[in-house]
Amino acid sequence: MSSRIFVIFAMTLVAVVNIDYIGFLNIYERNPSLGLDYTSTSLQFVNTHSADDAIEKNNTTSSQVNTSQSLKFYILNAPRFTSDLIGITPNYNETKSQIASNYYWNVSAVNEELGEIWLHRSFKEFTIEQGRTNDPSEADVFFIAAYNHLAWGLKKDNKTLLVDMYKELIVDPTKPHLLLTPSVNERAGVAAFSKALRQVMNDTSLFWSVGYERNRGWQGVEVNRIIPIPYVVKLLQKKKALSNKNRTKDFVFYAGDTRKVAQKHGGCYRENITAQFMESNDEKNEMNQKIDIRLVGKGPSRLSQHEYNTKMTTSDYCLILCGDTPTSRSFTSAMVQGCIPIRVGSRLRGLCEKPCVNRWGWDVSGLKYPHLPYSDRIAWNEFPEVDEQKFIDDGYGELEKLFAEYDSSKKARIRSVMEDTHRGWVYGWGDPVRSVEFGEAALYIWKSFQDSVKSEIAQS
Ligand SMILES: *[C@@H]1O[C@H](CO)[C@@H](O)[C@H](O)[C@H]1NC(C)=O
Ligand SMILES: *[C@@H]1O[C@H](CO)[C@@H](O)[C@H](O)[C@H]1NC(C)=O
Ligand SMILES: *[C@@H]1O[C@H](CO)[C@@H](O)[C@H](O)[C@H]1NC(C)=O
Ligand SMILES: *[C@@H]1O[C@H](CO)[C@@H](O)[C@H](O)[C@H]1NC(C)=O
Ligand SMILES: *[C@@H]1O[C@H](CO)[C@@H](O)[C@H](O)[C@H]1NC(C)=O
Ligand SMILES: *[C@@H]1O[C@H](CO)[C@@H](O)[C@H](O)[C@H]1NC(C)=O
Ligand SMILES: *[C@@H]1O[C@H](CO)[C@@H](O)[C@H](O)[C@H]1NC(C)=O
Ligand SMILES: *[C@@H]1O[C@H](CO)[C@@H](O)[C@H](O)[C@H]1NC(C)=O
Ligand SMILES: *[C@@H]1O[C@H](CO)[C@@H](O)[C@H](O)[C@H]1NC(C)=O
Repeated sequence: MSSRIFVIFAMTLVAVVNIDYIGFLNIYERNPSLGLDYTSTSLQFVNTHSADDAIEKNNTTSSQVNTSQSLKFYILNAPRFTSDLIGITPNYNETKSQIASNYYWNVSAVNEELGEIWLHRSFKEFTIEQGRTNDPSEADVFFIAAYNHLAWGLKKDNKTLLVDMYKELIVDPTKPHLLLTPSVNERAGVAAFSKALRQVMNDTSLFWSVGYERNRGWQGVEVNRIIPIPYVVKLLQKKKALSNKNRTKDFVFYAGDTRKVAQKHGGCYRENITAQFMESNDEKNEMNQKIDIRLVGKGPSRLSQHEYNTKMTTSDYCLILCGDTPTSRSFTSAMVQGCIPIRVGSRLRGLCEKPCVNRWGWDVSGLKYPHLPYSDRIAWNEFPEVDEQKFIDDGYGELEKLFAEYDSSKKARIRSVMEDTHRGWVYGWGDPVRSVEFGEAALYIWKSFQDSVKSEIAQS
């Protein structure tokens, strides 16, 4: 471990998640047409809570991952830090279940705390055909599930016990392990947990983690061992048919807060980016009728959640701005709502170009390891990106150039990618503790992980 990493780990990181709006978004049901190149295309999740609630252990002989076939995963989870916490084991307990639901839905500081339970519950529903095994001896890779945020939130997290229990569960430290607990909150102790488990591996590079971005401080592993996943958008229930009919051509939307701290941590100046669009400017009047870009606390009053959703479903483009770190929930919201994201700056691709500076709490992961989820499946270079400094200097000019480049056929291609991959941005609908309506985020993440493991093996 380099001294630089040590410094990052040793610092106390505050929650530096960039939330633009806490979303309860309605979503529209559509047919999955994923073109997955493995397993079945139509997902049938069934609600079972059987095998992995029992602590299963087995001795395995080490073997190399066979990269020419789909892999098999086995889930390691201590009931004490998963199913018991939500009242499923040892006996169903409605009170516990309600407490957990209430925590995730009403108490947790950010939606992103829900990632841990959505992922674990989704992967538990995977079938054998989709790559899950109940026999650790036939697993190629292992998943580690723990509800660190819930345990922490309910004051039931005993860090020593947590680490001891999971160390005990590990049956084959020669195989890759993937931590399923994404975090933006250092206080939940995920980075420390993963660093402790990493030491148990035969080779620490076998330890991987999912992450809302490739952030070592959040996940406790190197950037090339983090699988980027979507932020969590809370969705109530499925609705039918997402439509682009009501979108105003070339309408650009953004709403977020000022994020002053982002200037210090990342050289991210949201105010400089947005100011030009918020001044009344007669010369640009015609264009302004198709622009709604605002910072909360500045310009027009804050939008309600309903208005925010409406803007996202009626705008052609949604701006994606930096925050304290490169990622933010607005990107997932745009993908879920079908609003074409315009990335302002190259940060999400893993770069840090002017005016970006990397001062605190995040990683410049490099082009090979972008923060964007699903790079194995989505050609992000087809999606619009504008230069951050040029956009600050002349946002109108940059938008005009972009509109000229993104003609209707180019936009249609992007929209079809967004429609096809729509469910990959959804973890599930409703209460993460009890809902059996799962999206396909876990399926997409499983594919990303397999691709990453295989490509790392191919390179070594
Ligand atoms: C696993 O291996 C240990 C020694 O390495 C042995 O004591 C134990 O009985 C084995 N357990 C099983 C289930 O084979
Ligand atoms: C790997 O999987 C392929 C396809 O299933 C199979 O043909 C091959 O024999 C396997 N290799 C090893 C070393 O198990
Ligand atoms: C169910 O959980 C609650 C809250 O933890 C606890 O007080 C109660 O004793 C439990 N009930 C049973 C039957 O275990
Ligand atoms: C969240 O709080 C509201 C209002 O107190 C309550 O009606 C609702 O049931 C709570 N949600 C959950 C999942 O507990
Ligand atoms: C342990 O391995 C043996 C032999 O491969 C297998 O028969 C048994 O089902 C495994 N047990 C568990 C709990 O997976
Ligand atoms: C935490 O767990 C350890 C190991 O089981 C135990 O010794 C310790 O007393 C526990 N601490 C608390 C505060 O419960
Ligand atoms: C893994 O580590 C153990 C203990 O250090 C060692 O006995 C074993 O040979 C290692 N296995 C591999 C495949 O390197
Ligand atoms: C389009 O907007 C109209 C008027 O606001 C609304 O009634 C209709 O439901 C919208 N259609 C879609 C497909 O969203
Ligand atoms: C942002 O605006 C402030 C105040 O006008 C200015 O001092 C600063 O240089 C600007 N930063 C960038 C990157 O344009």
